[in-house]
Amino acid sequence: MKIQQQQCDFLILGSGIAGLTFALKVAAHGRVCIVTKKHRAESNTNYAQGGIAAVTSKEDSFEMHVKDTLEAGAGLCNEDVVRTIIQEGPARIADLIALGMKFTEREVPRSRGAKELDLGREGGHSKRRILHAKDVTGREVERALLAAAATQPNIEISEDHFGIDLITSHKLKLGGPNRCLGAYVFDKKNQRVLTFCARNTLLATGGCGKVYLYTTNPDIATGDGVAMAYRAGAAVANMEFVQFHPTCLYHPKAKSFLISEAVRGEGAVLKTIEGAEFMDSYHPLKSLAPRDVVARAIDSEMKRSGADHVLLDITHRPARFTMERFPNIYATCLQYGIDITKEPIPVVPAAHYQCGGVLTTVDGETEIAGLYAVGEVACTGLHGANRLASNSLLEALVCAHRAAHRVIDHPLPPLKGEIAEWQSGNATNADELVVVSHNWDEIRRLMWDYVGIVRTNKRLQRARKRIENLQAEIQDYYWDFVVTGDLLELRNIATVAELIVLSALQRPESRGLHYNLDFSSPAPEWAQRDTILRKQLS
Ligand code: SIN
Repeated sequence: MKIQQQQCDFLILGSGIAGLTFALKVAAHGRVCIVTKKHRAESNTNYAQGGIAAVTSKEDSFEMHVKDTLEAGAGLCNEDVVRTIIQEGPARIADLIALGMKFTEREVPRSRGAKELDLGREGGHSKRRILHAKDVTGREVERALLAAAATQPNIEISEDHFGIDLITSHKLKLGGPNRCLGAYVFDKKNQRVLTFCARNTLLATGGCGKVYLYTTNPDIATGDGVAMAYRAGAAVANMEFVQFHPTCLYHPKAKSFLISEAVRGEGAVLKTIEGAEFMDSYHPLKSLAPRDVVARAIDSEMKRSGADHVLLDITHRPARFTMERFPNIYATCLQYGIDITKEPIPVVPAAHYQCGGVLTTVDGETEIAGLYAVGEVACTGLHGANRLASNSLLEALVCAHRAAHRVIDHPLPPLKGEIAEWQSGNATNADELVVVSHNWDEIRRLMWDYVGIVRTNKRLQRARKRIENLQAEIQDYYWDFVVTGDLLELRNIATVAELIVLSALQRPESRGLHYNLDFSSPAPEWAQRDTILRKQLS
């Protein structure tokens, strides 16, 4: 295998809203290399439907948004972080609009044609405050940011490049406090491992929905950043809090298609397959209750009746409204033979968002010097035990901006000494790829069955044992054979699955998204206590 070295000032893994925003803000200060696993627009961001929560209307206030966020977070948010992110939101939205982002607007009532930003509503929000581009907000964010990045000669984007491991001073046995020096990156097209040497490295790799059998996330969401940071010795926090979105389209041919919470925000109602509304027996906000409540209610209805889905009904709204407000959802469902203006949508809950992640400050700093993390990969303390809908793109925008200022204002000294090249040992081509696909399926199925919406100690212990065995097997396989994208992803989902299980086992209570039948309620002594895991480095 041929080895190559690349030098850059800023190495960014991931090309969603966090990575691109950071890149644009540091581009005037040095060479920026973005490496991304697939096509540059293929990120979690690209699939965000609902939008970006921010206080932009006179009827709303920072205080109300803070209150909603803290309530959803169930006693585990860091209030200072919540206030910072919410208060800086409007300025970052203005930056995004200045870059070319087009949010949906509406006519100001009684104004003769003046326009204002249209605001959507989602579960847990006491006001309409979701800025959106119809129901394809993430796609529009990606378009605007990628177009802006294309005008910056200092930004280079390498597609089909997969981060293998972070390079650290500890790993290279250089002594002193652990510092990140870049990353080894697998160039899939040319089947070679590159060494990216970087003064600053940003993880912006998104979440880990693919750890579960059913997810709203795209295929790229394999928890790569969390796994890499953990292997490098960084602290990882609150991984037990996996958010299950209540409404993923249920159709044999539909893969991971989300039915936005904004549909419920516009009046859609959850019903059993017999057509009976059921949310009033679970929460006063009914179908617009916080996500964890809705997902558990659906799970319980499905278990009670044996049905494999429930229904989401928006047929009482005018067809024209539904088609204009949700063009992507309307067209996609129609493609599967479901006209959502005339019939209810079959839906199931699915893994959606990782509220924990690499432990960072609100400026994106991790415990390793030179290593930053922003977006879903990071745990800043904004989401606590349950994320308020549409707060995540807001967090990515604000924290990417703050991280950019942090690296510019506090530059690290240049890298010294030689960085060792990637060692591929005596690897030969793998001939039993069935091992990879079998373990991949097994992890996702066991996480769904044992570590899903409702957990028990027994199920978690069972999952821990299975994952330990799988880890050992993958480790053997990994070192015996040449790297492939599939193998790297398998290694990462196994690591992240283990972190989720270990974190869940450490929390002896039910709080927010972590619901364990053996502990039916929150334990006061666990409020404000993060679950932190660190790998013992040898
Ligand atoms: C949705 O559109 O329902 C997703 C919004 C989010 O997860 O924040």
